[in-house]
Amino acid sequence: MCHYCGCRHISPIPEYIPEHEQVTNRSGDAVRAIDGGDLGKARRCIQEMAVLLAAHWQGEENGIFRVMQRDEEFAGYIAPLIEEHRELAELLATVDVGDPTDQQRIRLAVTELDEHISKEEDGLFPASLIALSGRDWDETIAAWHDAHPGAEMSSD
Ligand SMILES: [Fe+2]
Ligand SMILES: [Fe+2]
Repeated sequence: MCHYCGCRHISPIPEYIPEHEQVTNRSGDAVRAIDGGDLGKARRCIQEMAVLLAAHWQGEENGIFRVMQRDEEFAGYIAPLIEEHRELAELLATVDVGDPTDQQRIRLAVTELDEHISKEEDGLFPASLIALSGRDWDETIAAWHDAHPGAEMSSD
């Protein structure tokens, strides 16, 4: 987490961070439910993750990713992040929580999700502070609103 650079105070980054926390809470619950044999709960947590992530990813990909990808310096950093979104979406949509192999895939995916989030919170988001113009931020904010219809930004 970047507590130092101030990016938490620039909209819409203060939205992305609690979205990450909500998803990692669900993913931790999912793994604990699998470990405890509560497959119904595991399924619900995974479904909730998928819903939260669909909106979160739309906000990122059409917002901060899109504007930062225009800079070659960042494009190569962002492309794998988008691939990771797709891989996790595929897993969440197809996983069979009763299957031991899939259970292991979920455990691995949860670890990889933590790494993914670190690449955003400790890498991309701090870099965006220096890289983005006011117009870029406007585009990023508009993408967040498109991804969360009717929702208010917590920083508004
Ligand atoms: Fe992401
Ligand atoms: Fe993210």
